[in-house]
Amino acid sequence: MSSSKITESRLQYFLVTLLSLVAIRYVGVSYLSAPAATGEVVHEAETCHTHDLPNPLASLYPNNATGTLNGTVAILPISLDLARRIIPSQYRILEHAYRAILPTFPKDMYPAILQAVHDHEVQAFGYKIPDFSRAGIEFPFLDLLFDNTTSFKWAPSLLLSAGHDIALKGAMDYGTTVFPSIFDPPCDAYRIDSNDDRTTVFSAKSSDASVITQFSLADQVYPLQFFKNVTNQPTFADGRSCDNMIRLFDTGVTVAIDSVKGSVQARIPPFEKQVQWDEAYGVRLDSAFIENNYMPCEAFRRYASS
Ligand SMILES: *[C@@H]1O[C@H](CO)[C@@H](O)[C@H](O)[C@H]1NC(C)=O
Ligand SMILES: *[C@@H]1O[C@H](CO)[C@@H](O)[C@H](O)[C@H]1NC(C)=O
Ligand SMILES: *[C@@H]1O[C@H](CO)[C@@H](O)[C@H](O)[C@H]1NC(C)=O
Ligand SMILES: *[C@@H]1O[C@H](CO)[C@@H](O)[C@H](O)[C@H]1NC(C)=O
Repeated sequence: MSSSKITESRLQYFLVTLLSLVAIRYVGVSYLSAPAATGEVVHEAETCHTHDLPNPLASLYPNNATGTLNGTVAILPISLDLARRIIPSQYRILEHAYRAILPTFPKDMYPAILQAVHDHEVQAFGYKIPDFSRAGIEFPFLDLLFDNTTSFKWAPSLLLSAGHDIALKGAMDYGTTVFPSIFDPPCDAYRIDSNDDRTTVFSAKSSDASVITQFSLADQVYPLQFFKNVTNQPTFADGRSCDNMIRLFDTGVTVAIDSVKGSVQARIPPFEKQVQWDEAYGVRLDSAFIENNYMPCEAFRRYASS
């Protein structure tokens, strides 16, 4: 396919998803004649008010998908043995690549990544989709192209706001296992813990999966460059296409980058049982992004953005 054809088909895809969204919005809650719980979630998502600042990129890149992501990104250390067992065996782990930017990381360990975020004002071509939340554990520094050089991030499963058909379908089209979930708080990146005002909480629950987090301010343990790097790696699920999310750490919405430490409890594939980290270190921030969806992974050979 010529590149203009590719652009055209991507544009069509985006319009189709957006139009189905518009349809869902206008038909309204009654259209979702699903269990009462689903209706309530949709209703709540439409009425609850987020604290997130507006998308600063929409007017700069009107024809690209842009939005903001407020929330927490943390390193969840697992043994390289476990990583090797749960990451599909064809993808080599580029240990030298993460050691280069994470020199103090313990030997024989691998940095899995928690992303627990609220997606705000996602839009393109003047169409805005409703906000949603997501939580997942991702596996960066994988050699998808067998070149021993380019780092890709595997994101096999995701808890996503129940009732948000566009986001759910968008993730499923990558081959992601999605769990429509109830989030607390429902439309923000985190909230203050009612028992401890120095701690923030964020959780996602479905019948088959859950991610429960709490974080508080801490000294910085890992370099910010690491978090910029992993959040900008091209991301895949079944490997048939890649998501290129360009995450910016220097727009007006990044008013602060807090170093945090906390606990994470998760029941999510590819982990076979519940996993827990009592001292996970990460960053909490709001960031703006430009997203290029359903790209051929091959396009990212030797890709480096930060
Ligand atoms: C990020 O979310 C938190 C929790 O809702 C909120 O307090 C904060 O203002 C948000 N940050 C920005 C820059 O929108
Ligand atoms: C915006 O979208 C176009 C068309 O898909 C793409 O070529 C361009 O690289 C995107 N811009 C950025 C900054 O990613
Ligand atoms: C991440 O860091 C590695 C070096 O360890 C570098 O090769 C790669 O280009 C960086 N990736 C991105 C997306 O910045
Ligand atoms: C991959 O690259 C690293 C760093 O250059 C090197 O140490 C390692 O031996 C290479 N692995 C293979 C299988 O080529």
